[in-house]
Amino acid sequence: MSTAAVKNSQYFIDLEDQYGAHNYHPLPVVLDKGEGVFVWDVEGKKYYDFLSAYSAVNQGHSHPKIVDALVEQAKKLALTSRAFYNSKLGEYEQKITTLFGFDKVLPMNSGAEAVETAVKLARKWSYEVKGISENAAKIIVCENNFHGRTTTIVSFSNDPDANQNYGPFTPGFIKIRYNDIAALEEVLSREAGNIAAFLVEPIQGEAGVYVPNDGFLKNASELCKKHNILFIADEVQTGIARTGKLIACHHENVQPDILILGKALSGGMYPVSAVLANNEIMNVIKPGQHGSTFGGNPIACAVAVAALNVVEDENLSERAEKLGQLFRSEIEKLITKTNLITKVRGKGLLNAILINDTPDSSTAWNICVQLKENGLLAKPTHGNIIRLAPPLVITEEQLLDCVKIIEKTIVEYQK
Ligand SMILES: Cc1ncc(COP(=O)(O)O)c(C=O)c1O
Repeated sequence: MSTAAVKNSQYFIDLEDQYGAHNYHPLPVVLDKGEGVFVWDVEGKKYYDFLSAYSAVNQGHSHPKIVDALVEQAKKLALTSRAFYNSKLGEYEQKITTLFGFDKVLPMNSGAEAVETAVKLARKWSYEVKGISENAAKIIVCENNFHGRTTTIVSFSNDPDANQNYGPFTPGFIKIRYNDIAALEEVLSREAGNIAAFLVEPIQGEAGVYVPNDGFLKNASELCKKHNILFIADEVQTGIARTGKLIACHHENVQPDILILGKALSGGMYPVSAVLANNEIMNVIKPGQHGSTFGGNPIACAVAVAALNVVEDENLSERAEKLGQLFRSEIEKLITKTNLITKVRGKGLLNAILINDTPDSSTAWNICVQLKENGLLAKPTHGNIIRLAPPLVITEEQLLDCVKIIEKTIVEYQK
């Protein structure tokens, strides 16, 4: 048998299984090509992508303008390190700070690195500007958070999968319930003097697309202001138009003190993340005190500028807002016809459906396998919740087609 003849999905699954660490449990589909809202497997079957690489591919797969930026820059200059200036970084910095309304940006690569950067920045600010005594600074975080996978970040996770047997952990974090303004107020009234920051996801994506009550972010940011505490928004998943605004904080007219972006900042083309803040905060980090070989490299900068231009030129925030409302109203109709889905929730095109079964059941997984058979890729998050987050370039017609696929799958599953 020729080698080409055996290179089917199973061949690639077996390779990953044998040679790769088992730190993920993928759906059994092997993707080979992507364009816009679609991806194709190695057998050539076409799917709607309803995960968008965890909201990294907001601009659609292989957006031609982002691809061009990547290719052109790769041909010219890929990496210089920050030992030298480069001809792409400054204009990218100007673009991103202007767009999001901050004095300065600190460029990194992955989302977790950007969260780490924000934690370090907030701590340093708290010692050098706020005047907290050495090593006493604390950061308030929320239960069921997801901010990435580094040792410090998993130190303040309460997901046993994320942190079991990875200790000892980094101290200095106080956990409160998400969406609980009274809990925040209580901690602040008790020990605001030692608190550097409140770190929060405007919608908890990984936890299952939990949308806080209206006013939570506004009230939290005002409390932070009152107590001289930095409000840090982790918009790695919710940012870049996903929820129907450029960042989810804008739904409540909140401008965070520190904004963390990643994922769709590059349209999923390249690992690009960023921490944004004003001078009073950002200037506490001086040469040699933080960095990354790849952070701010010319390819990353060219790609991010192109990706942000696409968000603006194609009105992706407005599209996400409008299509998100349509999607939730269509799923609400479906809920009246089935008892397999109990709820749909979300903002813009970051949504989730709740499956009527216990969190440890395999129902949501089995439904995702069936959705795959029917041409739509999605993944359960935390047991019985299925996150549904297509690229924001999806058309109304395509979205309604996807609703039909979801309906057909649910009907089939119930039989
Ligand atoms: C809110 C949030 N923060 C941080 C991260 C970590 O990003 P990365 O996987 O790029 O390190 C994620 C990833 O899903 C996320 O959703």
